[in-house]
Amino acid sequence: METGLGGKTVVITGAANGIGRATALAFAKEGAHLALLDHDAEKLAETSALIRGCGVNAYDVQADLSTGQGVQAGLDVLLAKLPDGVDVLVNNVGHGDPKPFEEITDEQWERTFAINLMSMVRVTRHLLPVLRQKEKSAIVSNASDLGRQPETAPADYAAMKSAMLALTKSLARAEAPKIRVNAVAPGPIWSTFWSRPGGFAEGLSSIYNMPPRQAVDHEMKLRKLPLERLGEPEEVANVIVFLASDLASYVTSSVWGVDGGSIRSIV
Ligand SMILES: NC(=O)c1ccc[n+]([C@@H]2O[C@H](COP(=O)([O-])OP(=O)(O)OC[C@H]3O[C@@H](n4cnc5c(N)ncnc54)[C@H](O)[C@@H]3O)[C@@H](O)[C@H]2O)c1
Repeated sequence: METGLGGKTVVITGAANGIGRATALAFAKEGAHLALLDHDAEKLAETSALIRGCGVNAYDVQADLSTGQGVQAGLDVLLAKLPDGVDVLVNNVGHGDPKPFEEITDEQWERTFAINLMSMVRVTRHLLPVLRQKEKSAIVSNASDLGRQPETAPADYAAMKSAMLALTKSLARAEAPKIRVNAVAPGPIWSTFWSRPGGFAEGLSSIYNMPPRQAVDHEMKLRKLPLERLGEPEEVANVIVFLASDLASYVTSSVWGVDGGSIRSIV
């Protein structure tokens, strides 16, 4: 099957690690050129080197995507490097710190809002005029199954991911028929999101009072995931590439679960 992505230019936010990196590599394997943003300059350079190893172009810019100024500066530099504009935007950057509701301060709510929702708002607003110049273009945003089916924690993160889904629907209507706009809603995916110091594994460890890895396994049992395991970044990347490709030409305004079966509702 032909994805039609060869020679296209794909912008990915949060591309230095985890799902962002796996997604960049998956697009590169389809022959797409990559334009990458992240605040982790070292890992971003590693991702770019991997991309170039696939025989396509990789442009990367270090940027703090949690502020309006960071987004503006990063995208200005990035766009100046792109000879053929942008065909696909993947709003991937995100961050969560699982804490019980009463322990989430106003500052954490604001941080979660800035990096999860406002990064999507700002990057999309900046790139829409560029995407509209193409015959067909696509936006895929990385939400979460927690945005559709929240758990007890983290409430701030789940709320922002729900808002990302609402924004996906809004944009899909506003930009049709030229730009297709979809979201993926991954379940638990083993990445630095879980394993980093202060990440989900440690957060669950303090909530359940167990060692981090044991706390993750405990959480998975509570969630009763049909596929009984965490997913891998590549398993989300495959679906993002599909949604951005010609193979999904009649798919817009959709929320695509990549969640091991976590969502129980029919709609
Ligand atoms: N891992 C999961 O279980 C899971 C589940 C559902 C949804 N998601 C979503 O998938 C996306 C990617 O998550 P991941 O698992 O790959 O996480 P990750 O932590 O491995 O990667 C996130 C990337 O974002 C970058 N980043 C963080 N803050 C930034 C900032 N202020 N400016 C620029 N870059 C910044 C990090 O450096 C990192 O490269 C996120 O939106 C996350 O919410 C993850």
